[in-house]
Amino acid sequence: MNTNLMQGFSFILPTRIDYGVGQLKKLTEELKELGVKKPLIITDKGIVKMGLVEKITSVLEDNHYEYIIFDEVEANPKDYNVEKAAEKALKSHTDGVIAFGGGSPIDTAKNALAVIGYGGKALDYMGRDKVKGPVQPFITIPTTSGTGSEVTFSSVITDSSRNFKMTMKSLHIAPKIAIIDPELTLSLPPEITASTGVDALTHAIEAYSAKVSEPIADACALYAIELISTNIREAFRNGSNIQARAAMLMGSTLAGIAFSHSDVASVHCMAEALGGIYDAPHGVCNSILLPHVMAFSLQDATDRYARIARAMGSKEACDSKAAQEAVEKVRKIVSDLKLPKLAQLGVKEEDLERLAEMSVENLSTSSNPRFMGKQEYLEVFRKAL
Ligand SMILES: [Fe+2]
Repeated sequence: MNTNLMQGFSFILPTRIDYGVGQLKKLTEELKELGVKKPLIITDKGIVKMGLVEKITSVLEDNHYEYIIFDEVEANPKDYNVEKAAEKALKSHTDGVIAFGGGSPIDTAKNALAVIGYGGKALDYMGRDKVKGPVQPFITIPTTSGTGSEVTFSSVITDSSRNFKMTMKSLHIAPKIAIIDPELTLSLPPEITASTGVDALTHAIEAYSAKVSEPIADACALYAIELISTNIREAFRNGSNIQARAAMLMGSTLAGIAFSHSDVASVHCMAEALGGIYDAPHGVCNSILLPHVMAFSLQDATDRYARIARAMGSKEACDSKAAQEAVEKVRKIVSDLKLPKLAQLGVKEEDLERLAEMSVENLSTSSNPRFMGKQEYLEVFRKAL
């Protein structure tokens, strides 16, 4: 297989990972260590409704900690969610941020930290390295096994004026600590286990097959693919299986490390276009598109897809047959998890042109193993529809 060991690279993981079942109990020790006296908890109403937020607030109250909650984060978080969160932090004089939930609260928190620290609007920070310096102490606590955002230094926020997803990247918004506690994912409903789990699988597959890659990210991606592909069905069918939940959460965290050091690719370009226009769940969009983009990219990713198939358990020695098997295995996972189809999201033929143009505009387009321009995106969207 191709190796990238002749190319130089730098690897940085500014986030400390505190992993373990029951790890959440150490939250106040971690806050003390970071010098935080009054944190802002950024979350969403779904987490509050599920009663999950009490898991955090009870730890804080038991340790006599003052806190403020902001729970107005929407799915596919918008610029105004970020600005409202920052406003609440500034008005309440909080001195640190805990992001609690899936990717939406975590991404909102990252962008809000920039606004809290340096003012301006949420979208002023989109692009690379727009945050001028350090931000308030930041802890992430994921409750889904999907986003990986708990360990990345990027954030995806929707520009609400044009329904377009924007990305900001800066080492300054990297969480100081990620509390990775599998217990927090036990109550995740099956359909969210499925969609967020396929998001994580997509991160790992795209990171491993992206044109930009390096060996540490590759190692994380391959183990993530193994963990996720062998545990996602069990986590979906039997959500109380803590072993499967732990494997999924470690898989999604590793996938986050992988893609933040390589990239995502065309599945995410298309999924972000769909999420921007239809406000459709990110993981669902990925699950619909992943097998199609893999089938399209196969001819230029044979050796990488072969390794992916083997990480998923294939014993096939021939690379081209194994690569084909990777596509089939992914297709089977998506169908076993009974995820929705593209038409169910309300996508119509006449929207495809705009979706294809938005996908081309996405910065990760150039990372896909096979070239995708507007015509190619249209072709794959049509197949998926
Ligand atoms: Fe994703």
